[in-house]
Amino acid sequence: MSDAIKPWGGRFSEPTDAFVERFTASVDFDKRLYHHDINGSLAHASMLNKVGILTDSEYQAIEKGLEEIRQDIVDGKFDWSVTLEDVHMNIEARLTDKIGLTGKKLHTGRSRNDQVATDIRLYLRDEIDNIGNELTRLQAGTIELASREATTIMPGFTHLQTAQPVTFGHHLLAWNEMLQRDYERLMDCRKRVNISPLGAAALAGTTYPIDRFMTAKLLGFDAPTENSLDSVSDRDFAIEFTAFASILMMHLSRFSEELVLWASSQFNFIDLPDRFCTGSSIMPQKKNPDVPELVRGKSGRVIGHLMSLITLMKSQPLAYNKDNQEDKEPIFDTIDTVKDCLKAYADMVPAIIARKDHMLDAAGRGFSTATDLADYLVRKGIPFRDAHEIVGKSVAYGVETQKDLWDMSLEELRQFSTAIDQDVFEYLTLEGSVSARAHFGGTAPEQVAMAAKRAKDKIAQR
Ligand code: ARG
Repeated sequence: MSDAIKPWGGRFSEPTDAFVERFTASVDFDKRLYHHDINGSLAHASMLNKVGILTDSEYQAIEKGLEEIRQDIVDGKFDWSVTLEDVHMNIEARLTDKIGLTGKKLHTGRSRNDQVATDIRLYLRDEIDNIGNELTRLQAGTIELASREATTIMPGFTHLQTAQPVTFGHHLLAWNEMLQRDYERLMDCRKRVNISPLGAAALAGTTYPIDRFMTAKLLGFDAPTENSLDSVSDRDFAIEFTAFASILMMHLSRFSEELVLWASSQFNFIDLPDRFCTGSSIMPQKKNPDVPELVRGKSGRVIGHLMSLITLMKSQPLAYNKDNQEDKEPIFDTIDTVKDCLKAYADMVPAIIARKDHMLDAAGRGFSTATDLADYLVRKGIPFRDAHEIVGKSVAYGVETQKDLWDMSLEELRQFSTAIDQDVFEYLTLEGSVSARAHFGGTAPEQVAMAAKRAKDKIAQR
């Protein structure tokens, strides 16, 4: 195919420089758009037929030819040519090889500029739906684990210092909230992806009596785009998608960080099943949490792709510029990375094993019920700031004598305030502490169970 005639070769008097040909070609990566490129062409051809630009037999020949090409590509029998630059010209040239002159009529009233914008939107829409499903699967697994662990007590942290006891289920539902927002962002982005630029042609529209509403409908778009110049140049939807993906990956990196910490022998809060871990070639005892580590690492490339795309579009004059060819690799790699990371997480999260005894033990260290003692004193009529001071002194005494609050006798506690009575001990336990936070959004086990139920109902409506 290297001597293939370029579809735009008419005004050129010498062949393209061999390096420039390779440098400007995109076929190596945009060939993955073939399926959507063919679907876009089929809709365009069907519309050309309806408005009388293609006869019925011409349309049928194009349809048959394109379907054969699709099958050849699926079967690995299609020779992609760099000389033919991109997926669009490769397919069009093959169509003409197959069906003759009629193949050359397909491009009537269209340009590669609106064609490529259409292809990416169609491709991205499908992948958004795949990613949405995988995100739902991860949420379902997270919520399921949260329901199972609704009563499991662990330390809650601020500044990575033990702060107050929480339930593991509550912690997991915090993850789910992040994922819920990610899903909503993705669906919001989908609305702006699902608009048809087809018919904008090169930039100004076309002189043929095309029906843009028909092609939009055939391709499952919500509507045609409003402005032809914007149609071929806009890549906001891709930036929005990578922004969604960056925020999602930022969330996954946070989960990863916690899993890595929790799986360490220092924390020892969880066990990750062996199938999600790998060993060390030198240290026989090692079991490394590679999956969360790698997901944490991969957040970097996705955030990088967001930076690439937003910088790619910065300062571009209207309308299409070749710069836009650089949109594909960041979009594709973002999709691939996000899908892999979501799959790994959706498989792994429901299989996390909580080491409840270690979590409980850790929750009991570090005076985690100190706030509960202060709240107790407030209920006995002491202003909160004074209560804070009294508890601070009790903690200092505990540090010195190596006793937690619940290890102290009533007499010891009463040194700091005579408002303290025997009933204080029911508030100083870990169970008492979590159960007392029984309002909407709190960590009490019955609230966690109800929150898990609401979260489950929400994803069931998708
Ligand atoms: N391969 C090109 C891209 O990805 C297709 C559009 C090319 N248009 C053009 N006028 N050179 O952006």
